[in-house]
Amino acid sequence: MFKAKIYGTGAYLPERIITNRDFEKYLDTSDEWITERSGIKERRWVRDDQATSDMVLEASKRAIESSGILPEKIDMLIVATISPDHLFPSTACIVQNKLNLRHIPAFDISAACTGFIYAMEIARNFIANKTAKYILVAAAEILSKIADKEDRSTVVLFGDGAGAVLLGPSEGKSGIMATRIYSDGNLAKLLELPAGGSRNPPTEETVKKRMHYLKMQGNETYKHAVTKMGNVAVEVLKIAGLTGKDVKVFIPHQANYRIMESTAVRAGIDIEKVYITIHKYGNMSAATIPVALDEAVREGKINPGDVVLLDAFGGGLTWGATVLRW
Ligand code: ACO
Repeated sequence: MFKAKIYGTGAYLPERIITNRDFEKYLDTSDEWITERSGIKERRWVRDDQATSDMVLEASKRAIESSGILPEKIDMLIVATISPDHLFPSTACIVQNKLNLRHIPAFDISAACTGFIYAMEIARNFIANKTAKYILVAAAEILSKIADKEDRSTVVLFGDGAGAVLLGPSEGKSGIMATRIYSDGNLAKLLELPAGGSRNPPTEETVKKRMHYLKMQGNETYKHAVTKMGNVAVEVLKIAGLTGKDVKVFIPHQANYRIMESTAVRAGIDIEKVYITIHKYGNMSAATIPVALDEAVREGKINPGDVVLLDAFGGGLTWGATVLRW
């Protein structure tokens, strides 16, 4: 069967490390609370002068280099982000220019933490129906600039980073075996950035009410994350004719250690197979999975023939999973 497979991976993480102790200095929180409730010890934050496209550029260069595919062969660029440089032009168009790519289609997609899985699925379809051969898929977030530094219930959870993959055709055994993506807009209020769009354009009042920062009902979101991530993992494995025992590396979205643990149990995957980055990077929304994937590949944890499961959940609500053979 004609499939899409990953030819190369890349990532970029800002240098600045923010530890849990840094928050203790000015918020009513503790390293113990953050570690116990989420699994996070530290996260990376960008410099003030850095924007999302700057990180996408670095991650993309690394993905292109590791793929061995020449940039002029790239037919499309998709960037998954909820923290773009601007509402428009898209971050993808800015990166298309910075990478000196041809006049290819370049666009952003918004699916919060599930953005990378959504973008991969869009790319897979273009490759499978042969309207594109090589597609650069990136996911990047600067959540430190949309998190409220005064809100202990959100700011401690989020980090910045970017990851990218170069997808192309495969006629062999390796490639994407099954993907499912979902949404439920009825639960949109659980996780949102209330102002800055056409519903609540920027005014003095929206700024005063701190409506330009992301809001999350953590507890309620948690319950949906556990069931939806677990169910979709089981579903894609079944479609691919696999079980949790076949999975070599499981890369779930990293919002909370406890969510990852219960998803692995539900999918029948040993906890040692879960690739974890949350302790050092926190939740980087869409960027989390491609950053972890790049690390796992470069550490030699993923090798040809291995079954890899990716699984995400986030604002929208959105969720989805993909299973592939490396
Ligand atoms: N330090 C100390 N106490 C805190 C902090 C903090 N940083 N934050 C909240 N608390 C307090 C709360 O005020 C509350 O106090 P109360 O009991 O006196 O009211 C108490 O701790 C418990 O708060 P909960 O929100 O119930 O804590 P919970 O155990 O649920 O953990 C967390 C919070 C980590 C956010 C968890 O709910 C979670 O991981 N939720 C899911 C997140 C997720 O999956 N998001 C989707 C992806 S993100 C995206 O799409 C951008």
